[in-house]
Amino acid sequence: ATALDALGLTITLTAGPTREPLDPVRYLTNHSSGKMGYALATAAARHGARVRLISGPVSLATPAGVERIDVESASEMLEAARQAIADSDIFIGCAAVADYRAEQYNEHKIKKTPGDETLVLRLVKNPDIVATMASAEPRPFVVGFAAETRDVEAYARDKLERKNLDMIVANDVSQSGLGFGADENAAVLLWRDADNEPGRLELPPQSKATLADAIIATVVARFHATQRE
Ligand code: C5P
Repeated sequence: ATALDALGLTITLTAGPTREPLDPVRYLTNHSSGKMGYALATAAARHGARVRLISGPVSLATPAGVERIDVESASEMLEAARQAIADSDIFIGCAAVADYRAEQYNEHKIKKTPGDETLVLRLVKNPDIVATMASAEPRPFVVGFAAETRDVEAYARDKLERKNLDMIVANDVSQSGLGFGADENAAVLLWRDADNEPGRLELPPQSKATLADAIIATVVARFHATQRE
């Protein structure tokens, strides 16, 4: 049986990489496939939510019943998130947002300079989208992700506090066959509960589809719990 615990809720997600343009033909990006975010969007729709998926460039089909907003850069992703926030009950930041973008976009293709063996690119920090959503007023229930290669839970807890999130999904990306680009993943969900006791749920390695279902079920349960508190 399908749980319909998210009926009547609007869930906005970000997924995939961002693409930071350097000039008309070049950009900076990363290896995010978008699979986890798309699996979460699929699961959220199955739980009965109205789902808005703000997606960086990926080669995945739009899940059934999901409204998809395509963006490229982190700035565009932030703008789409800002427009969606007022009417979102839950915001899940699953995108692998580029940390930096080019300080200057070149209107014309950057040319090789004869004799120069190096080219210096100056980068500036991108806005933190999930933290921006968490500092909005009023704000939705905000969930972030933390992909780490060591001290996974400690870094994730720190991120939960620093970005003022309601919940964080921590992944150990050093385990081969899990995470980035893979079809399987494992996670530890961390949150602060009513008495400031640390909440924790460990989800063992499984397909991204079943993992997404468990994450959505936990997020929705925590959302309802905070509404009662
Ligand atoms: O700080 P770090 O990039 O590890 O945090 C990861 C979490 O923050 C993810 O939820 C990611 O989607 C979000 N994030 C964001 N905007 C950024 C950087 C990260 O929303 N510029």
